[in-house]
Amino acid sequence: MSHRHFDGGRLIVASHNPGKVREIKELLTPFQADVISAGDLDLPEPEETGLTFTANAELKALAAAQEANAVALADDSGLAVTALDGAPGIYSARWAGPDKDFDLAMRKIESELGEKPDRTAKFVCALTLAWPDGHCETFEGTVSGLLTFPARGDKGFGYDPIFTPDGHDITFAEMDPDKKHGMSHRADAFSKLVAACFA
Ligand code: IMP
Repeated sequence: MSHRHFDGGRLIVASHNPGKVREIKELLTPFQADVISAGDLDLPEPEETGLTFTANAELKALAAAQEANAVALADDSGLAVTALDGAPGIYSARWAGPDKDFDLAMRKIESELGEKPDRTAKFVCALTLAWPDGHCETFEGTVSGLLTFPARGDKGFGYDPIFTPDGHDITFAEMDPDKKHGMSHRADAFSKLVAACFA
């Protein structure tokens, strides 16, 4: 399948989260991109009304691309728990409430799981590169693992303390961040995007 290539120049990172913007800038250092964030440009944040990770990544990237008339990159991610039919999924951030209380969100997962034996889950990341003419290139990355209670570790963020990736016996929150970044759902989506549109 042929993909549209990023030809250099300005690239908007459609995120107002400085941590995410920094990580994306680092990942794009080898390419000819003049990276600037939607926050720096004061672009409005669209409401995430999509029903899938891909729909949300595309609506965020397209809104920024059309507003700023430049190529834009957006991601949408979350934790999908098998025994909860994929919840919290696209609502992962919202399960933490207005105070972004992830202890609360992790306890909610534990209580909704109850005695259900299936502890498998995956982190999912959809990444979209969008052009002002409406063209989108979208890639999805995943990392599979097992939910682990009680939560362990103080590195990382979000649901990292209850997620043990397959093939490991420590949670993402106990893992060296560089190691996590090398195997994460975001890294998986990025390597697909880079191979298709930047390499
Ligand atoms: P987004 O900014 O809308 O993509 O929100 C994603 C939400 O999913 C975050 O607030 C976290 O709750 C969760 N999430 C996504 N990626 C990770 C991760 O790598 N570790 C832990 N939680 C994550």
